Amino acid sequence: MSVPHHQASRRTIKLRVLPSADAVGRVIADEVQCLLQQKDAPVLGLATGSSPLTTYQELRRRFAAGDLSFAGVRGFLLDEYIGLPRGHVATYAAVIDSELGDRVGLRAGAIMGPDVWRADLEKACHQYEEAIADAGGIDLQLLGIGSNGHIGFNEPGSDFSSRTRIARLASRTRVDNSRFFGGDVEAVPTHCLTQGLGTIREARRIVLIATGASKSKAVARLMTGSPSPDFPASALQGHPAVSLVIDAAAAFLLPGFGQCA
Ligand code: F6R
Repeated sequence: MSVPHHQASRRTIKLRVLPSADAVGRVIADEVQCLLQQKDAPVLGLATGSSPLTTYQELRRRFAAGDLSFAGVRGFLLDEYIGLPRGHVATYAAVIDSELGDRVGLRAGAIMGPDVWRADLEKACHQYEEAIADAGGIDLQLLGIGSNGHIGFNEPGSDFSSRTRIARLASRTRVDNSRFFGGDVEAVPTHCLTQGLGTIREARRIVLIATGASKSKAVARLMTGSPSPDFPASALQGHPAVSLVIDAAAAFLLPGFGQCA
């Protein structure tokens, strides 16, 4: 796949390195709070997995303290596993429900994910794209990054213009995510529905979160490598409003941040 010229030539990712994962969560919660205070019906793009957990914890804290209202907020998940029963604790729908949901006063139905439980999955993908468009598009997309550079479940080789679709999980992703399935790789689904890279890139603002040393290689490649479908997160280069917010451990391999710098 050819890489559009503007992506290859412009590095737009703003880097912010903070001392800890908790500090990352506070800074990103500030961003969410600004959006919620500025816009009547804000639309959040919500990642699951470990990376956004300190952000969600901080959002819950601010909600409980009465500092933040989620009235009118809508959220869209990046992806969902295919093959788990509805309500299974590892489904991303269940995860986001237990992280945010009514814990921050979101009304039922305010957060939507790709509907992997319907018979016609192609139609589910199409309808998910329509639902995001009908909501007016995503104002602020939170993302994690896989150790292989995936965003959403757009694994290496994904087209930069891809849309919501059925995708196969890379074996490395299944190993990485086996921790959410009691360590059993075989229990991790093989397929999912994921927003495409083209879908994700339409968000007006994107914040990519990475914490811990296991993300340091991916972070270094994102900040120093060229855009390539081999490394899906590089599709974000050239986006006009994208930040990478990381802790010191994830920054370790960046020029100027390592022990020997
Ligand atoms: C989750 C998602 C994935 C994760 C990524 C990092 O909705 O789409 O791209 O963000 O696999 O996962 P963690 O944060 O668990 O390291």
